[in-house]
This record gives sequence, C-alpha cells and structure tokens, in this order.
Amino acid sequence: MDSKTEASITIDVPITREDPDTLGNIVKAGLLANPRTLPSKLFYDERGSTLFEQICELPEYYQTRTEHQLLVTWADEIVALSGAEELVELGSGAATKTRVLLDAMAQAEQLRYFVPFDVDETIVRRVSEELVNEYPGLQIHGVAGDFLVHLEHIPEGGQRLVVILGGTIGNLPAIAAEDFLTSVNTEMASGDFFLLGVQLITNPERLEAAYNDQKGITAKFNKNILRVLQTQLGAQCNPDNFDHVARYNPDAHRIEMWLRSAQDQTINIPSLDLSVPLKKGEEIRTELSAKFDRPLAENLLITSGFELVKWYTDSEQLISLALARKP
Ligand SMILES: C[S@@+](CC[C@H](N)C(=O)[O-])C[C@H]1O[C@@H](n2cnc3c(N)ncnc32)[C@H](O)[C@@H]1O
Repeated sequence: MDSKTEASITIDVPITREDPDTLGNIVKAGLLANPRTLPSKLFYDERGSTLFEQICELPEYYQTRTEHQLLVTWADEIVALSGAEELVELGSGAATKTRVLLDAMAQAEQLRYFVPFDVDETIVRRVSEELVNEYPGLQIHGVAGDFLVHLEHIPEGGQRLVVILGGTIGNLPAIAAEDFLTSVNTEMASGDFFLLGVQLITNPERLEAAYNDQKGITAKFNKNILRVLQTQLGAQCNPDNFDHVARYNPDAHRIEMWLRSAQDQTINIPSLDLSVPLKKGEEIRTELSAKFDRPLAENLLITSGFELVKWYTDSEQLISLALARKP
C-alpha cells in the first residue's frame, strides 16, 4: 500500500495504481466520440490546481465568494446539526472554504479528523501540511485518488460530515452524478451528514462571464487539459493552437467549456495508437458545469439515498448548500 505516515498525517495514494490503460481508454473513447470530449479530472495537475485557485479569486467568478459567505453564515448550525467529528471533503482542492467548517468544528470541540480527497496528489499533500499546523491535534488522512473509483479508501471513522463544494458535482453528467452520490451514500453510515454545494440556474450573461474572465485565466485552465494529456499519455499537440470557448446550454442548464481548433491539425497519442485530425473550428468538450434549482438538487439527493435536512441559499439565489443525511 502506498501509504506514508508522518506525525498526524497519513497520505494514501491509490491514484498511482490507476491502470494507465483505463485512462487511455477513457481518453480514446472521448476523443473519438461525437461530440469529442476529454475528462475534466485531467485539468488538475499542480498547475491546473493553481490556476483553479486563481479562478476562485476572479471578480467574475462569484461562485467561490458566495459559497464562502454561506459557509460563514451557517457553519455553526451545520456542525451542530451533524454532530460530526470527522470531515471528509471530496474534490477538496486548496480546501480554503473548508477552513470555515474546520473552525466551527474546532470551536464546538468536535474536530478530530479531516480527510481531504483529491485527484491532484500535490494539493492533497500541501493542504495536509498546512492544516496539521493550523489545527493542533488534527488527524489528517489524505487520499490522492479518483473519487469515482477509490471511495473505499476513505477510512472508517466516527460521526461524519462528507462535503462536496465548489460546484464539483455539476462537473458530472446527471446519470454519473447520481451514480457517484449513490456510491458516496454507500460508504457512509446511517446518521452521517452530507453537505452538497450547488450552483443555481441564473441569468446566462452572468454565468458566461464567470467562465470568460478578462484576464484569460479560465482559458489557461482550459488549455491545461492538453498539457496534462502530454505529460500523462505523451500526447503530441500544441495547446496554443486552440481557443477557449465557454457557453451556456439552456436546455441542459449547464455551462460547457470547449477547446476550439484554431487551425487544421492532428492530435497524436502514440501510446494509444491514436491520431485525431481536427478541422479549423472543430471543438472538444472539456467541462460541464451543471446548474441546479431546488427540485433538481433535492431529487438528486433523494435518488442517491439521502434525505434533505436544510437548504441554505444567498439573497441573490446564486449558490445553495444542501445539508442532507443518510437515513
Ligand atoms: C471545481 S474544483 C473545487 C475545489 C474546491 N473544493 C473548491 O470548492 O474550491 C474541483 C476539485 O475536484 C477535484 N477533482 C476533479 N475530478 C476529480 C476526481 N475524479 N476525483 C477526485 N478529485 C477530483 C479537482 O482536482 C479539484 O480540486
């Protein structure tokens, strides 16, 4: 087992055991599909995680500061209702907003254990080092893994609060989101709590502006998926030969990010024996970011085995935190 224990930090790295063929098959199937797609988890190497942290600071990206403010307002109540001693965060990234929950748990003298779980090993290690210093006595069990594959690596614990923030659930197609939350539910004990952050359907101009920032950081983040394709699968392609596109799809109530080929070109991935010729203007879809209303989110939670306990939202109805419980 690729586990290292240092003081009160344990990092489990199941991602290194991911069969390269599995990733290769997903990439191959996606690039040959209509429309062409790439899996959005490939955004997140160290550079991608840093770019996402920069996106969270952008004036156009209202999502992070709104969700943060909701947590500031409701963390004490969430912690009291859940009675949790262990916080598990799936897609934890920089865990910036998570500190609001950790503070509330510490304040309530309930904080024992934190499980940051992310596909980017560098950020799991960084966050674990930071938090073990910020919260004396905190036990950290980081998991650098794919939450669609490695959920069984979440350690057994006491009363738990599992959280998914940052609109991460919206990055999965609806069926996959339900399957994923059902698996999360299966890993939880009866009486454990679940906090799901969802981005709400709002006016398309505001949504599109959030993904087309003036500084071009989201464009860099989008193109980073090709850099990760280069490092992980040896793809031969030039990210500069693509344009960033983000547009709202009102029928599916989601933002879609695409990479549009700026010229006729070919992506070659010799390790997959794959050649993908692209015409100028042809697009590859790199991310979905589904937006919800209350019935959509509640239905997702119920079909995944949860019961809704509280629905928190901001005055502009941009973001909601759904607090749920495994019956
Ligand atoms: C939209 S960001 C949210 C980050 C953070 N939770 C926040 O609220 O700002 C999505 C996070 O999920 C992680 N992620 C994406 N796909 C993943 C997967 N399949 N398994 C584990 N982590 C994943 C990314 O590395 C990234 O840190």
